[in-house]
Amino acid sequence: MPSPSRTQVGIIGAGPAGLLLARLLKVHGVESVILEARSRDYVEGRVRAGVLEQGTVSLLEEAGVADRLHREGLIHDGVAIGHSGHPIRIDFKGLTGKHVVVYGQTEVTRDLIAARLAGDGAIVWEAADVVLHGITDDRPRLSWQAGGEHHELACDFIAGCDGFHGVSRQSIPPGALTTYERVYPFGWLGILADVPPCSHELIYARHPRGFALASMRSPTRSRYYVQCAVEENLDAWPDARIWEELKLRLGPAAAAHITTGPSIEKSVAPLRSFVAAPMRHGNLFLAGDAAHIVPPTGAKGLNLAASDVHYLCRALVAFYRTGSRDQLDRYSDTALARVWKAERFSWWMTTMLHRLHDEESFEAQMQRAELDYLASSRAAQTVLAENYVGLPF
Ligand code: APR
Ligand code: PHB
Repeated sequence: MPSPSRTQVGIIGAGPAGLLLARLLKVHGVESVILEARSRDYVEGRVRAGVLEQGTVSLLEEAGVADRLHREGLIHDGVAIGHSGHPIRIDFKGLTGKHVVVYGQTEVTRDLIAARLAGDGAIVWEAADVVLHGITDDRPRLSWQAGGEHHELACDFIAGCDGFHGVSRQSIPPGALTTYERVYPFGWLGILADVPPCSHELIYARHPRGFALASMRSPTRSRYYVQCAVEENLDAWPDARIWEELKLRLGPAAAAHITTGPSIEKSVAPLRSFVAAPMRHGNLFLAGDAAHIVPPTGAKGLNLAASDVHYLCRALVAFYRTGSRDQLDRYSDTALARVWKAERFSWWMTTMLHRLHDEESFEAQMQRAELDYLASSRAAQTVLAENYVGLPF
């Protein structure tokens, strides 16, 4: 489909933020064009996290892309926090009345792309050298190169949904943004394997050897992580070593149920907390990883992108219906209030569960005390549960 030269909202990035925004805008009668640097195969092949809050599921329902999610998604009423070999079960349902749904972000992305391509409007794949023009005047424009040609798109607003390394945030003058950052001195080594999960719920484990997580994609596909060095050499981690490490760190009860098998994907991801404020500059609005990053320990990345998109969509639709810019003017403050709470939760989970210092240090004592308290206090468990299932938006 040739891309038009004018639209209402120009969206940069076809990750979950850009795709969901485009779909919700369409449902409410607002047109958009998506520019994506990568190919469709690349975007649909990326392995990412997979825990959806109920609020995110509701948005996907509103977007009309939740059928497969309801068929294939796994409802989880709780999670286990492993501690000295004694897992603490956090009963989401009993403590908050809510649950989460385990459904891979890769699948969410595929469902959104399928809906978009069924008639919603253009996605320009492999758009190179995207440049934002006129962000602070009334006539923003996007230009890019594709198929050996120069293209331009005039729009009313630009949505910067192009992730942490994208061009949108970098187009804002440095003096207009404040950034906050914490880089953690460790990474996660992830493995995907076609074996049944070792437990019907996720297990997050603190262990003297380092953190481990048992997750899943389906009853026959498991996703596991172990804490590793930031610059870890994957060659040093043949599958057998990962399985051994998982068995040690997840504890004997989980180890007894681990089915091993060849990995079908293996990668190392760094852990970072990052916020850029404000999330708006003139007619450019940032959403998702373009504005903030959380370490994956709280499973908040995709869910935060979803709440940003909800606020931004509502504000844009209100503008087109009434001409009022009030919600657009409040977008950054509204979104950031929720972002900071998820940043706090993700930082807290990360700090509580990873090996940072030796086991005799003050910090390790704090971690153990935190986990002992969690094991014994319904109030502490409620704090974890209500943040994990997602604060309202
Ligand atoms: N021009 C066009 N597209 C770009 C550019 C650019 N200059 N730079 C990046 N992109 C694209 C990327 O290729 C990617 O497809 O923007 C998209 C951004 O998608 P994500 O990184 O998935 O970010 P987001 O949509 O905000 O999703 C947030 O995804 O990365 C996870 O942990 C994250 O779960 C969170 C969720
Ligand atoms: C995942 O399944 O990939 C996953 C689950 C929970 C997390 C992070 C990643 O906190």
